[in-house]
Amino acid sequence: MKDPRGRLLILLIALSVVSVVVAGAVYADLEIGYYSPENLGSITQPAPAKNHADAAYTISSFPLYTPELVPGEGRQDVEAYCNTCHSPSYITMQPPLPAATWEAEVNKMGRVFGAQIPTESQASILKYLESHYTPETRKR
Ligand code: HEC
Repeated sequence: MKDPRGRLLILLIALSVVSVVVAGAVYADLEIGYYSPENLGSITQPAPAKNHADAAYTISSFPLYTPELVPGEGRQDVEAYCNTCHSPSYITMQPPLPAATWEAEVNKMGRVFGAQIPTESQASILKYLESHYTPETRKR
């Protein structure tokens, strides 16, 4: 291209493209985090509650639901040893489980989770669970 006016024209076009890009970037930067007054009003909040001078508050204990285990021989052992890490609802919320499954459960509590249960108590716990929480024996 020999004509100097042609070069000038290309230079002008390039300059205008660059300035549009730069202006856009500057504008976008200014827009970040900018909230116009209309936006500010769009998050509505409830009016703050008024404190009453004569209000009385009480804090009661947290309502923990602890299901009652079926009465029977061995229940005391279950309550003593199966109650330290979780509530007995872990027993009552199971479907009726076969005796072998209960045995595996009780073994797992000791082997996997580290429950310290004397052997004779373990036997009475198993007997209790078999007598009240298997498909054949479970009433509630
Ligand atoms: C050393 C703590 C500990 C003791 C004691 C304990 N458990 Fe658990 N038990 C756990 C943990 C941990 C889980 C798993 C909890 C979870 O998955 O959210 C669990 C879960 C269970 C479950 C749900 C099924 C499962 O395998 O996750 C049953 C049923 C259960 N325990 C029964 C018993 C019985 C019966 C005893 C008494 C012999 C007992 N637990 C004593 C720690 C213990």
